[in-house]
Amino acid sequence: MKYFLDSAKMDEIKEAYETFGIDGVTTNPKHIQNSGKPFLTAVQDMADWAKEQGFKDYNDFPISVEVNPHLETAEEIMKMARELHAISPCFVIKIPCIPGGVEAARKLEKEGIRTNLTLVFSPAQAIWAGKFGCKFVSPFIGWKESNGEDCRQYIQDIVDIYANFDWLRETEIICAAIRTPKQFVDCAAAGADIVTAGLAVYKDAIAHPYTDMGMGRFTAAWDATAGN
Ligand code: E4P
Repeated sequence: MKYFLDSAKMDEIKEAYETFGIDGVTTNPKHIQNSGKPFLTAVQDMADWAKEQGFKDYNDFPISVEVNPHLETAEEIMKMARELHAISPCFVIKIPCIPGGVEAARKLEKEGIRTNLTLVFSPAQAIWAGKFGCKFVSPFIGWKESNGEDCRQYIQDIVDIYANFDWLRETEIICAAIRTPKQFVDCAAAGADIVTAGLAVYKDAIAHPYTDMGMGRFTAAWDATAGN
């Protein structure tokens, strides 16, 4: 399972790449806002960093950048997608699962512009991404579980449906908005291709109180032995 960072903050992207070896980045308008930069500055900074790292394109290191959510028609979405695509070969264009978005994703994929169908909350929505050859589909986990839903079956259903058909296997499943280490485990157990989460969740997934307790116990033993 690949690990993507869900953030548009350059300090977080650099730390997550160095510490956790993340395989890609996902952003959305909220993450751009949290970066404190104007949209084009934030995406250009990510593009420049990817180039500095020597990433040639989205196969090396995909960065999902979302279109303006005000855009509703396929034509409007495709125009912005082409502009973003021109900024970096690492960019995968994130497009919401609305009628104009699905049409745009289908046509952009035919042009060779890779897409990530986002704001997906049901297996029925997820099938569109596979049917139209999107690079990624982003079913949101954290939002649904914050709403009291248990997503284990939801994740499993999407993984199983994608396994049923060759034409669906081209699309990679990004379980998005991961909030807890347990959700990582649920995604891995179901066979999801990718998870995307904030930096804090990756840090939580390394920590365990018994590890801390063990470090204390072993440090004390080490020190007690040091003079022998
Ligand atoms: C994923 O691709 C989305 O950017 C993300 O997971 C959405 O959730 P969040 O912004 O609430 O974390």
